[in-house]
Amino acid sequence: MNKPNTPPYLLLDTGSCRKLEQVGPYRIVRPALNAFWRPTLPEKEWNAADAVFERQSTGGGVWTWKRGLKQPEEGNWIVRWGEVNFLVKPTHFGHLGFFAEQIGNWAWLRESSALLPAGSDTLNLFAYSGGATFAMAQGGANACHLDASRGIIDWANKNQALNNDLKGKIRWICDDAMKFVAREQRRGHKYRGIVLDPPSFGRGAQGQVWKIESDIADLLASVRAILDTSGRFFILLTCHSPGFSAFSLGRMLEQAFPDFAAQVESGEMLIPETSAPGRALPAGLYARLRN
Ligand SMILES: C[S@@+](CC[C@H](N)C(=O)[O-])C[C@H]1O[C@@H](n2cnc3c(N)ncnc32)[C@H](O)[C@@H]1O
Repeated sequence: MNKPNTPPYLLLDTGSCRKLEQVGPYRIVRPALNAFWRPTLPEKEWNAADAVFERQSTGGGVWTWKRGLKQPEEGNWIVRWGEVNFLVKPTHFGHLGFFAEQIGNWAWLRESSALLPAGSDTLNLFAYSGGATFAMAQGGANACHLDASRGIIDWANKNQALNNDLKGKIRWICDDAMKFVAREQRRGHKYRGIVLDPPSFGRGAQGQVWKIESDIADLLASVRAILDTSGRFFILLTCHSPGFSAFSLGRMLEQAFPDFAAQVESGEMLIPETSAPGRALPAGLYARLRN
């Protein structure tokens, strides 16, 4: 299926710890806990939202659809963001099925993949719905998409089907990230580009516990062993976990790649906002290195 005229995602406004988004045909309001400033758009724009997500103290939250609207059935809500069509799936945690703040990294990955020798292998660990995988494939790399959840892989597969240019370019793997990297190391299989967006806490395909604070340094050391640094290569590390800063992410990459420390850059991931030129909502951190 090709969806060439898919409506876009837009961040319309932020403020008072909320964000107003146009997600294809639907306008929604979700929490943005770091948007301490006042909103730019008048209240009537916010009140025109079709759905509002509110957190509950018990964990997760509730979606409320207004004016008799119902949440669209699965497969009927598709948006385009960062040159990719995504299936929108509102979750109990208020997620939509793609992380809009990755848009700058996807552009960087597309560009970095295009610089690699033709047919280079790249790997996306903790790959979720596929944004980074698709960006690397669009840049011309053979992209391997790994996630511990079978359901998430199926979802990413459906996203691929919405993007004609990605047909047949992706290898899908359901596994634990640490286990897979160790196996690739034993096999001597190397990649020229690796992306990691680890959650704070997660479980591998066989229930292996992942905790970012205790596991990230070991994972980076193993990733180092399967990254071919003999020529052009890249690595991207992103996170949303409390306790980390752009500086600390950068320092971890510098430690794992001491020969390339001067090329490490780090910063905040930003979602561009349409309320005024140059405005953006910070949402998470990145550190990256390209040689
Ligand atoms: C924060 S999301 C990644 C978001 C994604 N990279 C993006 O920007 O669109 C975390 C993902 O890691 C997966 N995951 C959690 N623990 C894992 C593990 N031990 N090995 C592999 N994947 C894991 C989850 O299933 C989830 O899809």
